[in-house]
Amino acid sequence: MDREGHLRVGGVDLSRLADRYGTPLYVYDAATIRAAHRAYTLAFAKHRPYRISYAIKASPLRGVGRVLSALGADASAASLGELLAAKRAGFAPARMQLHGNAKTDEELRGAIALGAGRIVIDGADEIERLARLVRRRATPLSVWLRVSPGIGADTHPHLRTGVLDSKFGAPIEGGEALAQARSIALTKGLLLVGLHAHLGTQLHEAERYAELGAALAGLAGDAMAATRAKIREIGVGGGLGIPLREGDRTLDLASYAAAVSAPLRSRAETAKATLYVEPGRSLVGRSGVALYRVVGTKRIGGVRTYVSVDGGMGDNIRPALYGAEYTALLAERASAAPQEQVAIAGRYCESGDVLIGDVALPTARSGETLAIPGSGAYAIPMASNYNSVPRPAVVLIDNKRARLIRARETYADLWKPER
Ligand SMILES: Cc1ncc(COP(=O)(O)O)c(C=O)c1O
Repeated sequence: MDREGHLRVGGVDLSRLADRYGTPLYVYDAATIRAAHRAYTLAFAKHRPYRISYAIKASPLRGVGRVLSALGADASAASLGELLAAKRAGFAPARMQLHGNAKTDEELRGAIALGAGRIVIDGADEIERLARLVRRRATPLSVWLRVSPGIGADTHPHLRTGVLDSKFGAPIEGGEALAQARSIALTKGLLLVGLHAHLGTQLHEAERYAELGAALAGLAGDAMAATRAKIREIGVGGGLGIPLREGDRTLDLASYAAAVSAPLRSRAETAKATLYVEPGRSLVGRSGVALYRVVGTKRIGGVRTYVSVDGGMGDNIRPALYGAEYTALLAERASAAPQEQVAIAGRYCESGDVLIGDVALPTARSGETLAIPGSGAYAIPMASNYNSVPRPAVVLIDNKRARLIRARETYADLWKPER
């Protein structure tokens, strides 16, 4: 914030950006992304060897990915499209991993042709389908197996992926994961080099990560005893939460790194394995701020006050989809004392399109700029054109300079694919 109470990011006045590029506008700060990456390297360096693999689904924008590829991160992708986005952003294909519970043959072929470093097998059918695709390869294809460790997590049910009742991964419980590891080890053309699990997202419990490390270490030991596979890579997924509102619980990186890696170090079979950590939100979430214009205010006496803005679920569906909670500030009056509790309503024609259910703000005037910090992950990549609204522009600030990295869509863009 500057002396006039204007919010600044990377030295740049956010309200100026809103004037220049229009709203809604997403603004990323490269320095914040670099700092987050550095914090990861500091936390995991003690537990070497490790790789940080950016879960590019969090923000596949080239301008954002480039910041992380330049730092030497790997990329973790959930589709062929994300592999291609990672390549555009400067990640080396050999340093990419492809996940997905329903990869099509087209995607598998595309990933192999691209030279993606690791395919993460998810499902018995995929072993068979992949076997057909690699039959004639001179060198085997290095793969991981995605497993489900049966570990719950204190987050929204839609954000849990490591529980037994999940579409992702072969359950360790009951022996399915071990059976699939055996099946891969017996498949010509496939080389099982790693195991992978991901507990879910926006997590903050060290014990769950310790359980994850232990589950993967145990399975790696069992798989190596039962097959000739040499499991030398352990992917522990991502999921570390970030604070989006004052008082939000979070887990510090040092405790996270210690919890997940200690069980791996303590077992002989996995002591030297490379740990792959796949953060998305905790690398880019805090680097992004969404800017909206206040359009109007509706007061319902004794019930609620709605401050409506010119964006909403079309550019950030997370509050409507799974109750994500944010805070907000007025970009030109960031230091003004709050005067009322309000809901921030989106512009889309759905009652559920409320960006924030309850936030304390100074009385907002039409035309003022409202900033929602912590919007860097999973907002723009999930954006839609609902209500035929073009998606927002995105700006990246680096070295005190703002650069447009994604232009605002036009109406012509919306209708271009129509025939
Ligand atoms: C396999 C996998 N890895 C990593 C991530 C990144 O999670 P987060 O952004 O919470 O760090 C996800 C997100 O859903 C995922 O599915």
